[in-house]
Amino acid sequence: MATEGTQPKLIIHGGAGSSLKGKGGAEAVRQSLYSVVEDAYALLLAGASASEAVIRGCQLLEDDPRFNAGIGSVLQSDGQIRMSAALMDGLKQRFSGVINVSRAQHPIGLAEFLQSAQDRVLSDHGAAELLRELQLPPFDPMTELRLQEWIQERQGNFTRRMADIVAVDPVPELVFQDESTARRGTIGVVALDSAGHLAAGTSTGGKGFERIGRVSDSAMPAGNYATAEAAVSCTGIGEDIIDECLAARIVVRVTDGLPLLSAFERSFTEAQQRQRDFGAIGLDATGTIAWGNASGILLAAYHNGEQIGDTLDISREKTFGVG
Ligand code: GLY
Repeated sequence: MATEGTQPKLIIHGGAGSSLKGKGGAEAVRQSLYSVVEDAYALLLAGASASEAVIRGCQLLEDDPRFNAGIGSVLQSDGQIRMSAALMDGLKQRFSGVINVSRAQHPIGLAEFLQSAQDRVLSDHGAAELLRELQLPPFDPMTELRLQEWIQERQGNFTRRMADIVAVDPVPELVFQDESTARRGTIGVVALDSAGHLAAGTSTGGKGFERIGRVSDSAMPAGNYATAEAAVSCTGIGEDIIDECLAARIVVRVTDGLPLLSAFERSFTEAQQRQRDFGAIGLDATGTIAWGNASGILLAAYHNGEQIGDTLDISREKTFGVG
């Protein structure tokens, strides 16, 4: 339960993938993630709530064209970008989100607004209407790299399961290896504030090349969930995450008394038996940081109150861990 004077904790992710080609690639991703961790963790130290730090972290990741959320989102099969995002405040145990919104700079900002609305999850038309109501200027999140990726994929008749997790250029080493396997891009932030409250946020451009109308896990409790006891954000193949109801599964296990690491261990052991393809990050109210990885590599970084660490050099053989 919440305790005033808690040491704040933070963990973020920029997706999961098969593997990074070169050390240069890992270093560039690490720098991006660390700068977001530093910024959002400083907010927590200054007394911001977990939700405020989560929103800030998500916005920064949405602003980084390297990651598949906000600017730099992948294109769907018809060449359009449709993004989804969710915010869950653990203290209020309240979920809000947008599904398949276009022309927004910060989908997480819409989820933030919806936290205090009567109707808390809006899909395409409703989300577009909300953008207009809030008088947010239309924003085109498409980048040249994502467009080129889509054009290439169109020539191959959309045979890949997902788009690249991180945008390819100008750092060629950032391409994930093994073109035959899926790529899993999403961003997420989980925070514990100094009042002992938790929050989780997740934002994505989706899988890339998907059918129009496909709904991502990121704006469902399967992909993003928080209570007073634990908070989790997921990344990976949305359909796998939904089938496991992963974020809610882990959080409910903690709420029912299982330690966070055991909840990750059990959930990822089950997931591997079913050949799932995803990763997750989480925190509990005691400040335990945990992550799980059923893909090749999880792009996660955290601040444990003493230092920043990351999971970039940890391969699939180590399925879960603590920060
Ligand atoms: N996890 C992101 C998606 O599948 O849409």
